[in-house]
Amino acid sequence: MKLLLLGKGGQVGWELQRSLAPLGELVALDFDSTDFHADFSRPEQLAETVRKVRPDVIVNAAAHTAVDKAESEPEFARKLNATSPGIVAEAAQQIGALMVHYSTDYVFDGSGSQPWKEDDATGPLSVYGRTKREGEQLVAGNCPKHLIFRTSWVYAARGGNFAKTMLRIAKERDRLTVIDDQFGAPTGAELLADVTAHAIRATLQDPAKAGLYHAVAGGVTTWHGYARFVIEQAQAAGAQLKAGPGEVDPVPTTAFPTPATRPHNSRLDTAKLQATFGLRLPPWQEGVARMLRETL
Ligand SMILES: NC(=O)c1ccc[n+]([C@@H]2O[C@H](COP(=O)([O-])OP(=O)(O)OC[C@H]3O[C@@H](n4cnc5c(N)ncnc54)[C@H](OP(=O)(O)O)[C@@H]3O)[C@@H](O)[C@H]2O)c1
Repeated sequence: MKLLLLGKGGQVGWELQRSLAPLGELVALDFDSTDFHADFSRPEQLAETVRKVRPDVIVNAAAHTAVDKAESEPEFARKLNATSPGIVAEAAQQIGALMVHYSTDYVFDGSGSQPWKEDDATGPLSVYGRTKREGEQLVAGNCPKHLIFRTSWVYAARGGNFAKTMLRIAKERDRLTVIDDQFGAPTGAELLADVTAHAIRATLQDPAKAGLYHAVAGGVTTWHGYARFVIEQAQAAGAQLKAGPGEVDPVPTTAFPTPATRPHNSRLDTAKLQATFGLRLPPWQEGVARMLRETL
């Protein structure tokens, strides 16, 4: 079997290089790859890459993920998040490949307090959310043999992340203020990559499993709860911090105005994914604690 991975250098892409490797021959590309064109800002070249590689499975982890920046460059964000994934999906359909793609909790308007199900009405609040929703629609419309995973609050051990930022601030200052009215689940890139590999195998054996799934770690928290957990874990591991968990002050989203509006309720219901693939999604604390042990 041959797999084509696009966006290999991102948080999820990096972990997919590991989790997809045992499934078959993996061709992993980034926007500046020279052997094949994989720059999502040049959609016209992507179909040719798919035709040349001729994979059985295409996994797209490339995206415009700079949520605030997207507000001032909507056409560019649309090209990366919608137009190009749509073209890749069309090319996948033409060669009979399974197309795997990622989307986001930001397709929802964040109202209420119930976990969103896959078929709930969307209502994105930002350019990022709107372009990601359009990407979902194009991928699903152009390639019925698809897996689309909506996820949230992705972190990875590699590169910068929210936990590392909180620890840096807790070393520098006596108090922190963190938003406590957005609810969601921090989800590790490695968990997503592992779920993806399992789901690909299952879907190749049973194409009826193709479709849209919510894929996040178990449980729910706020950015405030997430920051407190990170600081507690770091203290327990012996890190020298000026601020402890009791010095993390909760504030509303309005305390930190940003160009893009974030949803308040980002809870995603993962029952469909767990039932279809027979997978368990561990509590978010497990993955965050593991990432901290790797990086502290
Ligand atoms: N991060 C989150 O919290 C989050 C939440 C919900 C859903 N998601 C979704 O999950 C998926 C993976 O996200 P992630 O966190 O792994 O994002 P990420 O770390 O920002 O990775 C995105 C990848 O896309 C690449 N890219 C940027 N411009 C490109 C272009 N013109 N052509 C080709 N590739 C390009 C990036 O390359 P460079 O790094 O070199 O720019 C990077 O490798 C995305 O679909 C995202 O929308 C993410």
